[in-house]
Amino acid sequence: MKGEHKATLSFSDGTPSIEMPIYKGTVGPDVIDIRKIYGQTGKFTFDPGFMSTAACESKITYIDGDKGELVYRGYPIEVLAQNCDFLETCYLLLYGELPTAAERGQFGAEINNHSMVHEQMHRFFTGFRRDAHPMAILVAVIGALAAFYHDTLDITDPESRRKSAIRVIAKIPTLMAMAYKYSVGEPFRYPRFELSFAANIMQMMFGTPCEDYVRNDVLVRALDRILILHADHEQNASTSTVRLAGSSGANPFACISAGISTLWGPAHGGANEACLVMLNKLLADGGVSKIGDFIKQVKDKDSGVKLMGFGHRVYKNYDPRAKLMRESCHEVLTELGLHDDPLFAIAMKLEQIALEDDYFVSRKLYPNVDYYSGIVQKAMGIPVSMFTCMFAVARTVGWISQWNEMISEPDQKIGRPRQLYTGYPTREFIPMNKR
Ligand code: CMC
Repeated sequence: MKGEHKATLSFSDGTPSIEMPIYKGTVGPDVIDIRKIYGQTGKFTFDPGFMSTAACESKITYIDGDKGELVYRGYPIEVLAQNCDFLETCYLLLYGELPTAAERGQFGAEINNHSMVHEQMHRFFTGFRRDAHPMAILVAVIGALAAFYHDTLDITDPESRRKSAIRVIAKIPTLMAMAYKYSVGEPFRYPRFELSFAANIMQMMFGTPCEDYVRNDVLVRALDRILILHADHEQNASTSTVRLAGSSGANPFACISAGISTLWGPAHGGANEACLVMLNKLLADGGVSKIGDFIKQVKDKDSGVKLMGFGHRVYKNYDPRAKLMRESCHEVLTELGLHDDPLFAIAMKLEQIALEDDYFVSRKLYPNVDYYSGIVQKAMGIPVSMFTCMFAVARTVGWISQWNEMISEPDQKIGRPRQLYTGYPTREFIPMNKR
């Protein structure tokens, strides 16, 4: 970070003006370093929701929201989605470079070796109700990894951090599939080393002791693509949570668990589930003929109804992930002969109507990745309640890469935002008998 240029902040209340360095990234907006404002003026900056605040420096992922571009370590998402598999993408995010064939082989073997979970972890699951939301289970069992893998909890040791990263990337699909199997009352499945990351997820979810899962390459490729597209997304709410949790020195499993909790919200990773719930309701309320009424409701600010799977804080153009997911969505629906299924027909019609409606066009509200990823997963037979878990499986590599990047910084500080306090100033205590 070099600060060739400066910004001057002047005040109308007599506070002397101050100069702040401006830093340039390789691409993207410049940032004004405001860290000295409080020390020099006694004032804080105010930016709830981080509308204008860069909270860290990062080399991992870049989004150009106006152009609708997403790059991981410099590679456009389209290139990665068309040429790489998920594990190659993981390697890239984690280590910064695409792997050679030998490195890819070694990485895959290492992930395989860590894909089983301690047998005692199986017992956690029986403590949950069968109808527990799988995200609640995932938050708990990922946090619980810290109770099993003590040997890599020294966050000051780069090799410990790397091994924790491998462990969490490798184990989260197994734990996610276990949460699913528990919910349907079927026995847990162990990972199989000969399968790809995505195919393994499918066999752990859909295989039984009576019948192996018969692989369909179109579906496996679509799942692999879902994983690639969700692998990282720079400083979104869950990643920022992971960084904030990690800034206190918390162990990586606790930090990832915090990230999963944030992802669960319907404005973030819960949107794919919320989108399917919305489509099902629309279908139950009358189907395609009711889309007009539904859109009216969405446009009415007092209704509190949103078109789930549309809009994004950063993308003010088509979400590039949505374009790729849309492609996979059509491939999967064609493969499964589901184009005429009423639910999918509604989804396609709703998308078409919204894209032509001035409300959405003028606000630059386009479908985001979750609009299509929910449809694809539903078509593949993945239950709606598992959608956000699948997102968590994919995003784990992004979270742990960002966590590692943060911990590696020599001058890393605990995250501690300030506030504009508007409550009572100090006031006198009134004893209970006089209140
Ligand atoms: N349906 C209807 N109106 C919307 C929607 C929507 N989905 N999204 C935004 N708007 C309107 C919003 O009411 C506002 O209108 P106005 O200017 O008249 O007040 C305008 O568009 C700008 O929206 P905003 O709420 O200021 O935008 P934001 O950046 O704060 O919120 C968002 C972004 C993703 C939370 C929001 O678009 C949303 O809630 N979308 C639905 C949930 C969703 O699909 N989330 C997944 C995001 S992608 C996955 C991920 O990265 O986690």
